[in-house]
Amino acid sequence: MDDGKFPEGFLWGAATSAYQIEGAWNEDGKGESIWDRFTHRPFTILNGDNGDVACDHYHRMHEDVNLMSELNLKTYRFSISWPRVLPHGHGQINEKGIDFYNRLVDHLLDVNIIPNATLYHWDLPQYIQDAGGWPNRDCADWFAEYANLVLNRLADRIPLWTTFNEPHAIAYNGYATGTLAPGIADYSKAYGAVHHLLLAHGKTVQLFRQEGYEGEIGTVMNFRNYLPASDKEADVAAFQRANDNWMSIFASPIFKGQYPVELFEWISAHKPHIHDGDMEIIHQPIDFLGVNYYFNREVAFDPNGGLLKLSMTPVSSQDWGYTALGWEKNPGGLTKVLLDIKDRYDNPKIYITENGCAVNETTNEGGFVDDSERIKYLQAHISATQDALHAGVNVGGYYVWSLMDNFEWAYGYEPRFGLVRIEYQDGRRIPKQSALWFSNVIANNGLIE
Ligand code: FCB
Repeated sequence: MDDGKFPEGFLWGAATSAYQIEGAWNEDGKGESIWDRFTHRPFTILNGDNGDVACDHYHRMHEDVNLMSELNLKTYRFSISWPRVLPHGHGQINEKGIDFYNRLVDHLLDVNIIPNATLYHWDLPQYIQDAGGWPNRDCADWFAEYANLVLNRLADRIPLWTTFNEPHAIAYNGYATGTLAPGIADYSKAYGAVHHLLLAHGKTVQLFRQEGYEGEIGTVMNFRNYLPASDKEADVAAFQRANDNWMSIFASPIFKGQYPVELFEWISAHKPHIHDGDMEIIHQPIDFLGVNYYFNREVAFDPNGGLLKLSMTPVSSQDWGYTALGWEKNPGGLTKVLLDIKDRYDNPKIYITENGCAVNETTNEGGFVDDSERIKYLQAHISATQDALHAGVNVGGYYVWSLMDNFEWAYGYEPRFGLVRIEYQDGRRIPKQSALWFSNVIANNGLIE
């Protein structure tokens, strides 16, 4: 590794998610999702954008996979849309939806790209939300039915499976702040959602083992590097609450079979109902932990800071500035987060399932983008990953967010995260400078000095 090379077989890839790229929101029997409903409501999304068409990947899938192959990707992380395969969330199967994912997986395998599938990247069937959504315990069983169907049809060809992408965003942004779909603000519902997401995760892992599928199953969380704003006791306690609320609340039940005790005392009025046996279901060995890394924040006690009484300030490393979305840039924070996971959870296998940045880009006449800012960002984070590898962290892969520009949730199409530019007027795909750079990193299995 000292020559800058990564371990042999290291998985280099790029990631997307169904709602952010597919479009075809009501075609071929697909059911409505909470994101369809949310974005069709006025004034929920910047510029009134929605994912009705998005990158039109549903119709351009073949071309997109060919592009991935030209970029040397070894693996591709995508998500499956639950309402595309089960329009009502359970019961009636939409074979045309399954067929789309069959074709995607087959084409990926044809060009030697390893499919990495996420079962849930935020697009709950609206029918299930109408029955209460994640705060309803039944949701865990509906999810298991969905997972069973998809595994049954696709696990013979997909070796990497993720149950949930970023459960904190599903539970808190969806049900506590209401900034993301379904746009509900109710702490008790949010913590109910936390528990039912974990239960759904555990049931799916159990199923995966019972059915004897080959391959790996894990889950993906958003790990932040939090720092106390000062050494004052109140700030340190706030920092601890932040760690517990955004990370340990999900990781600790899975790896250790228990929720963070102090946090549960703090939120006691909103604690979820835990039935006998639930923690055993959740506490299943997983094959990998997916780490999405974007944030480095100072946490301070704040008497006006909501339920948790805290506020956060994004902090970039010196001279790095901030991304087009105002997000911080702190590559060293990634190394710290990875080391922390190693120590806390007994050195699990990790894939960095998302890392990347939004850049204010300008195109030349042909639409080409010279995004050297993105290259600098990715280079530093890949190097930070290598530092963690040298320190004994078990990292098996790194996925750039994102393969292509796409629908960035509440911010619509304004932020551009892609290695590949999308011209939304005509759907043209134009690899940026960073795409060419990344394909060289992959070919070299490491950074080129
Ligand atoms: C992550 C999400 C992903 C994308 C990036 C920028 O939190 O998982 O869908 O929006 O942020």
